Amino acid sequence: MTAPRVPMALTCRVSPAATELSLRWQSAPARPLGHDQVRVAVQVASVNPIDVKRAAGYGQRVLSLMGAGGAELVLGNDFAGVVTEVGSGVKHLAPGVRVWGLVPTGAQGSHRSEVCVSTRWVRPLPDGVPMASAAVLPYTFTTLWRALAAVGLDAQTAGACRVLINGAGGALGQLAIQVLSRWGASVTAVCGPRSLERSVALGAAQVVDRHATALSAVPSAFDATLNFGLWADDAEVMARLHASARGHATTVHPLLAEIDAHGWMAGGLSCWRAWQGGRRRLQGIAPPARQAWTVFRPDEGAMDALQASLLSRPLVLDVAHRAPFGQADSAFVHVGQGRSTRAVLVAHL
Ligand SMILES: NC(=O)c1ccc[n+]([C@@H]2O[C@H](COP(=O)([O-])OP(=O)(O)OC[C@H]3O[C@@H](n4cnc5c(N)ncnc54)[C@H](OP(=O)(O)O)[C@@H]3O)[C@@H](O)[C@H]2O)c1
Repeated sequence: MTAPRVPMALTCRVSPAATELSLRWQSAPARPLGHDQVRVAVQVASVNPIDVKRAAGYGQRVLSLMGAGGAELVLGNDFAGVVTEVGSGVKHLAPGVRVWGLVPTGAQGSHRSEVCVSTRWVRPLPDGVPMASAAVLPYTFTTLWRALAAVGLDAQTAGACRVLINGAGGALGQLAIQVLSRWGASVTAVCGPRSLERSVALGAAQVVDRHATALSAVPSAFDATLNFGLWADDAEVMARLHASARGHATTVHPLLAEIDAHGWMAGGLSCWRAWQGGRRRLQGIAPPARQAWTVFRPDEGAMDALQASLLSRPLVLDVAHRAPFGQADSAFVHVGQGRSTRAVLVAHL
């Protein structure tokens, strides 16, 4: 009989000087399994930009409300692996099943050797889909799904729409191009020169080189605008909506950073003013267009939609860097450099 393996976790000591990365792969207490949960031996976990930012202290005040603050964190939201144990109420998954899934932002990140997670946030990995390809998708796809839903875009409504994506060169942008173009939307992708060709290959109808063309030179002809680039561009992105547009969603709003910097009162007030500024910009649009500051949160509709894509025509994000959990720094450095590709942590190289 083999001895049970000691659970391990990648602990991150938060360092506000972003250059100092302090990650340690060390033993961690075994976690109890809830009746609706599965225990998964994590084979692959992705590193997202939020992990790199949180390692430098980003979002501490707001994320502490979810148990995800503190001087030492276990980061990560996505994983793929193998079920090793199921809770008493779990009927449709069994030990040995390969799965992909999400860990809600909280005390338990996915950068560990095993996670215990509700079956709501786990799906069987379809045959032929590599674990790394699946593990880079859930967090980003869920965020995208919420942004699209917030402006009323889905498989039924998007077909007739022209959508502008700022920040199209990143992971959110690349998924947005794929999803929206499959739904029949006409996508204009604003990205750097290195991402122009890729954006067209993924399905963009038009591309705008953000280094060569100012956003203000792009016609105000869009039904929906998505900002995954910079908050500083938000007003210009929004100004690209036409007079009867659906709305605008951004993932790069100042919510967490302002509350970090100025506290709940002053930070909250500053965000409220920024929000009102957006509302005013949309006032001329009839019927009133929607404005959304999208925040990641697990969503069963997103889980099901992503599973449907993995079963039929998997969405793609390039994984350019793999590092063992015990040598995670290089993966964080890769993502922190703002590249258009993802990095993953793996149990075995
Ligand atoms: N609110 C939330 O819950 C939430 C959730 C997920 C992500 N986010 C945030 O959303 C943003 C996008 O996420 P992501 O995963 O797509 O990031 P990412 O993959 O790291 O995006 C990197 C890409 O952004 C592009 N970029 C860099 N500077 C830019 C600029 N000034 N303007 C426009 N694009 C620029 C670059 O592509 P090109 O050089 O090709 O343009 C780069 O490859 C990040 O800031 C992330 O933290 C927020």
